[in-house]
Amino acid sequence: MRITVQSGRLEKSKTELVVVPALQDEEKFERLLSSSLKSDRALIGLMEKAGFRGSLNETVLIPKGSQWFLGVGLGKSKDLSLDRMRQLAGTAAKAARARGFRSLALAVLSQAQLGAAGEVAQALAEGVLLSLYRYDQLKEVPKYEKNRRVEAVVLVVERSSEVASAKKAVEKAQVITEAVALARDLINGPSNFVTPTYLADTARRIGRQNRLHCQVIPFAELKRRGFGGIVGVAQGSNHPAQFIVLDYRPARAKATFAFCGKGITFDSGGISLKPSAKMEQMKYDMSGAAAVLGVVQASARLKLPVRIVGIIAATENLPSGTAQKPGDVLKTLSGKTVEVINTDAEGRLVLSDCLHYAKRYKPDCVVDLATLTGACVVALGSEAIGLMTQSDRLANRLTAAGEKTHERLWRLPLWDEYKEMLKSDVADLKNVTDTGQAGTITAAKFLEEFAGDLPWAHLDIAGTAWADREKPYIPKGAVGIGVRLLIRLMEEWVKQ
Ligand code: BES
Ligand code: ZN
Ligand code: ZN
Repeated sequence: MRITVQSGRLEKSKTELVVVPALQDEEKFERLLSSSLKSDRALIGLMEKAGFRGSLNETVLIPKGSQWFLGVGLGKSKDLSLDRMRQLAGTAAKAARARGFRSLALAVLSQAQLGAAGEVAQALAEGVLLSLYRYDQLKEVPKYEKNRRVEAVVLVVERSSEVASAKKAVEKAQVITEAVALARDLINGPSNFVTPTYLADTARRIGRQNRLHCQVIPFAELKRRGFGGIVGVAQGSNHPAQFIVLDYRPARAKATFAFCGKGITFDSGGISLKPSAKMEQMKYDMSGAAAVLGVVQASARLKLPVRIVGIIAATENLPSGTAQKPGDVLKTLSGKTVEVINTDAEGRLVLSDCLHYAKRYKPDCVVDLATLTGACVVALGSEAIGLMTQSDRLANRLTAAGEKTHERLWRLPLWDEYKEMLKSDVADLKNVTDTGQAGTITAAKFLEEFAGDLPWAHLDIAGTAWADREKPYIPKGAVGIGVRLLIRLMEEWVKQ
């Protein structure tokens, strides 16, 4: 799809559809926001007559003269935000596609609440591109549906001086949303397609296309070199585990980031088998890994001046005659031993090796992303990523990036009292607690043992990686959470 930037009057854009942003009052909609349509009484009258109120993501389609207008509600003016612009663009793009429009125009509003034109343009472009994503590789799509495609989007800025920054923002949004789509494709892909080997091949492809160093340690070598955490989980599966290191290393890097991703391509629970209801969803247990691949790809394309080491442990977690069993003791890469009480708490086992491995890069910070605990879904639902870190500085930076991208985080404590619950009689640690209390936190306390002195943050994305229902710019299924968040984290980091 082509997204172009123009300045001038919105309704002069020559697109098939013109999107009209509208604010809501108590009863009816209050006013139109685009400066060139603000005083179009006839248009306002038609929208009112259609019963349009301007509530968030409400739409109304109005023919006027030779043009079609789509009113899209932004809700109350006090709640206006960049994310609402992202939502508006997503709502408009999907409505346009559903009705067969091939082109639409969107206003880059200049309200003080929203910030610079570049930020608004980026949000709009993101909203359009993220909302139109579909996973339809594995099914027949009817011709009439395939033919309904939005091919051109025009962003209309108010001042010609804003054109250049808006164009740059659109290019950036394109790179970022392609990375989100990559992550979504990997997550939506079923586990018989997206195997550990497939993830490794994808990493190699990203490496080749962007001239990055990519190293994959195969299963036999993992055994030999003592990656006991990942080997313990992988030994029940017929698909060989892959330990993936994708290294983006530009010449003048201002900082080094290590991003560790949980890459369980299917989590059956292993011998501690999960109940069968919804088990099919557990193909998304590699969402952390998918996000890491997306982040590295986008950062390389954007030429961010930072080094990024993506570290991924990819394997299935299955029961079989060779699977690990409750009571088994693993020796992890760090040398610490772990008593496996529950084979379904496998994420922390594979991540323990990733985190230990990250130390060799002496990163300025390490962030792991993992669909780690069902407890996180209970605590925070699908609106917030669980954030756990000892570093207030890192917490603040991540939280700020979360607000900007609307991939929001909520911090949970990492007090040492929680560690008591992980004491084992036979090993240095056990992988679950007796009570299950504070399951998200105790999982993080387990990981902390392996992050050692690194400035480290853990993101539990179990609740946010998969959408059970569609949202304005998030289709049902894989969200691709974490990609936009971490790119923003690094962008702001190098500014300071
Ligand atoms: N992948 C799951 C966590 C999960 C559950 C993600 C539901 C998304 C939705 C993880 O490997 C797991 O099974 N964790 C266990 C840990 C427990 C055994 C301590 C859990 O949360 O039940
Ligand atoms: Zn599990
Ligand atoms: Zn899991």
